[in-house]
Amino acid sequence: RMAPLLAPSLLAADFGNLQSETERLADSAADWLHFDVMDGRFVPNISFGIPVLQAVHRHAKQPIDVHLMIEEPQNYLAAFRDAGATNLTVHYEACTHLHRVVQQIKQLGCRAGVALNPHTPVWVLEDIAADLDLVLVMSVNPGFGGQTFIPNTLRKVAALKELLVDSGSQALIEIDGGVTLDNAGALVEAGADVLVAGSFVFNSADPVATLAEMRQQLTA
Ligand code: DX5
Ligand code: ZN
Repeated sequence: RMAPLLAPSLLAADFGNLQSETERLADSAADWLHFDVMDGRFVPNISFGIPVLQAVHRHAKQPIDVHLMIEEPQNYLAAFRDAGATNLTVHYEACTHLHRVVQQIKQLGCRAGVALNPHTPVWVLEDIAADLDLVLVMSVNPGFGGQTFIPNTLRKVAALKELLVDSGSQALIEIDGGVTLDNAGALVEAGADVLVAGSFVFNSADPVATLAEMRQQLTA
């Protein structure tokens, strides 16, 4: 199996020191920086948005993986691209015209991702899978860091892997929520390509060392 990409979530970083938080990740095992946008509508919490992404982007070395937990994401795609997003992931549950939104993201030159809430079955992506660069499987209900991993995710990742293979899709499978070294190995076995980790990384004594440990333990 391939070593997964690691995407620490800045939602768990120190917001008073985003420059140093971003800079210390520059030479870490992080492959992407995960950036969680919440609007207080799609999810019951508000995080940060476009100007904060712009500020992080100025100090970031890695690509920024923007996870839009917002309603009407189509209205903000260009602004997030201009602010430094490499990957733009929208929620399936927030898009009536998902096909159009995915095409818009690609026209902006970003990688197109679709996120699924824990209750949303993977088969809803059957007719769009081939167009996607990324499928983000929520392994907690979106809105908050530090929640407990939902075990059904493992079954879901395996089903998604099968769906992607069957549709000839090259999309990466990304897991977000409650990821720790206790479940990361099983997730990779099931087919995960990218692991997001917020509290596991930033609540540890040394986030850079924790990322190195993840990299080391997950490299078969
Ligand atoms: C939750 C966010 C996650 C969050 C993960 O709504 O999408 O990216 O930051 O945090 P942990 O790893 O603490 O569950
Ligand atoms: Zn996220």
